[in-house]
Amino acid sequence: MANWTQTSQKRLQSILSVETWLPDTMPEYAQGFMYMLGSLTASSFVVLVISGLVLAANGPASWSYNGAMRFVAATHFWGVQAFFFFMMLHLWRVFFTGAWRGGRGLTWLVGSIALLLAIPTAFTGFLINGDLYSEWNAVQAKDGLNALGLGWVNLTNAGQMFGMHVIVMPLVLAFFIGLHITRVRLKSVVPPYPDKSSPETRIQMRERGR
Ligand code: HEM
Repeated sequence: MANWTQTSQKRLQSILSVETWLPDTMPEYAQGFMYMLGSLTASSFVVLVISGLVLAANGPASWSYNGAMRFVAATHFWGVQAFFFFMMLHLWRVFFTGAWRGGRGLTWLVGSIALLLAIPTAFTGFLINGDLYSEWNAVQAKDGLNALGLGWVNLTNAGQMFGMHVIVMPLVLAFFIGLHITRVRLKSVVPPYPDKSSPETRIQMRERGR
C-alpha cells in the first residue's frame, strides 16, 4: 500500500508538470469563443486585483480628487461588471455542454463555490463606498444577517468590511479560482455531447440499451 508521501508525490507530479500547464495542442471543439469565457472571467479577476491593489495603496481620498486614480476606480468598477458578466456566460456554457461529465464534478463544485464567494466579495466592496446607497444596504443586510443569527458579521463596521474586501475575500476567492483552473488543466475541457443523429452514435446507444 502506498504511503502518504508516495501518494502526494504522484499527485504533485501531475499538478506541477509542464505538460499540464503548457499543453501544445488544444481540442478542436474548444477553440471557439464559448470556451474562452472562463479565461475572460479569470482575466477580469486579474484586472480587479491589480486595480484594487493600486486603489488600496493610495487610499480612499485619492480617487475622489485625482483624475488618474478616478480612472483606476472606474477600471475596478467595470472589472466587476465584466467578471460577473463573463462568469454568468461561462456558467451557461458549462451547463449546456454538461461540463460536469467525465470526472469533472469537483471542477463544477469548486466553480460554484467561487461563484458563491464572488457575491460577498463584490458586496463588501459596495459597502465600503461610504455613500448613502452603501450605508442603506449595510443596514438592511445587517438586519437580514441578525435575523439569521449571524449578528457577529458587522456590515455597518466600515473597517471590518474594508479588511474583508481588500484582504480576506480576494485571497479566499483567488484560492478557489486557482483550484478551479488547476482542476480544468488536470481534467481538460469536456468533449461535446455525442451527436444523436449520427448512425455511429445510434448504434452505440442501441448496444448500450438506451
Ligand atoms: C470565478 C469564476 C470562474 C472562473 C474564473 C472560471 C474559469 C474557468 C476556465 C478558465 C475554464 C476552462 C474552459 C473555459 O474557459 O471555458 C473553466 C472550465 C470549467 N468551469 Fe469554470 N470558472 C468560473 C466559474 C465556474 C462556475 C460558476 C461553474 C459551475 C457551476 C464552473 C464550472 C466549470 C467546469 C465544470 C469546467 C470544466 C469543463 C469544461 O471546461 O468544459 N466554472 N472554468
